Amino acid sequence: MIRYLTAGESHGPEITGIVEGVPAGLPLNEDSIAHHLERRQKGYGRGGRMAFEKDHAEITSGLRFGKTIGSPLAMRMPNRAYEKDDSNWPKVMAREGDGKGVEPVTLSRPGHADLVGVQKYRFDDIRPVIERSSARETAMRVACCTVARLFLKHFGIEIGAHVIRIGAVGYQSWDQVRSITESFIETGAESIYRNADESDVRCLDKELSGQMREEIKIKRKEGSSLGGVYEIIVTGLPPGLGSYVHWDRKLDGQLAQAIMGTQAMKGVEIGLGFEAAARPGHNVHDEITYEKGRFERRTNRAGGIEGGTSTGMPLIIRGAMKPIPTMIKPLKTVDFVSKEQQDTRYERSDVCALPRAVVVAESVIAPVLANALLEKYGGDSIEEIAERYNPVQS
Ligand SMILES: Cc1cc2nc3c(=O)[nH]c(=O)nc-3n(C[C@H](O)[C@H](O)[C@H](O)COP(=O)(O)O)c2cc1C
Repeated sequence: MIRYLTAGESHGPEITGIVEGVPAGLPLNEDSIAHHLERRQKGYGRGGRMAFEKDHAEITSGLRFGKTIGSPLAMRMPNRAYEKDDSNWPKVMAREGDGKGVEPVTLSRPGHADLVGVQKYRFDDIRPVIERSSARETAMRVACCTVARLFLKHFGIEIGAHVIRIGAVGYQSWDQVRSITESFIETGAESIYRNADESDVRCLDKELSGQMREEIKIKRKEGSSLGGVYEIIVTGLPPGLGSYVHWDRKLDGQLAQAIMGTQAMKGVEIGLGFEAAARPGHNVHDEITYEKGRFERRTNRAGGIEGGTSTGMPLIIRGAMKPIPTMIKPLKTVDFVSKEQQDTRYERSDVCALPRAVVVAESVIAPVLANALLEKYGGDSIEEIAERYNPVQS
């Protein structure tokens, strides 16, 4: 099974990643990872840091002549802010010494892990919490998960996501979104992300894209921020991944954890999700047909999973992201040393990170799906898995 770990602080020397359990023989190169890293850095509503920091994951082990060799893949990604000549970060993030002369951070930012972090780890400085809870870590997460994504692609499974709501601006209904994604699904889910990438808010609808951009502009002027909702679609999945037999083997549960384990994610829906609760049964459940030797469903409101198991229909997952907590217009907070109430201080930040977070969400579900595939058809090499990979359709 594929496991991955990330380590590193936002302003430390580098972020490190290890991906273990990747079968041997998977074609892989740094460019295919760089493609998604670059996507994660692009999007309307971003802050200043992205302008100077172009991410690149250097693969230092587990790869030989362009193919995985079954041993752990290690990756390193330098933090450019640390490396700059005039940078103060080597002093602030020094791994040795007593920290004398480094000002502690004592003002917790609401909506961040700051206060709970110092309470939990008994720090007298918020700095270590800021450094690790930051979404900078998602860069390495994208790098690690792209390996699983390439593995899935090798077996014809594609992932692509698009933005369906930013703040109050979004599609009117589930059916409206279905009519837009329908044609893309036929050519594979990657066509969804490639088309969504044409818009700097990653929305497939041109008019809505413009409205979303306006909404971000307004909130930027007001000194506030925005979140939103995205939808991830996966095509090419065989039926029978995951299981109904035990809670922790349910594919929907595992996917929800991957999304909720991502910074700032506050909700997950599979298929109709919350809307299913408001509809009568006949407008929710997908009727089953048998055509051309295959079982099919007339609709896909279940979003490709029934009983915790993939149906073979496209997977449809939605995720909700909260607005960015760092905002120009301050919030009230308390200094945890003086106990005095103060206004939050503004640091350079995104106004809306949703268009970029979509790439993280696409990525984090890949290891879950890769493991579901490995559980059913697994082997030590791509060749061995290919021999076993025989999805049951009828
Ligand atoms: C891709 C991405 C970019 C983010 N960028 C910022 C940012 O620029 N400023 C900020 O305050 N929060 C940003 N966040 C959100 C914080 O990381 C998040 O609110 C914080 O870690 C608290 O996480 P929690 O809501 O999961 O507890 C970003 C999140 C993601 C996924």
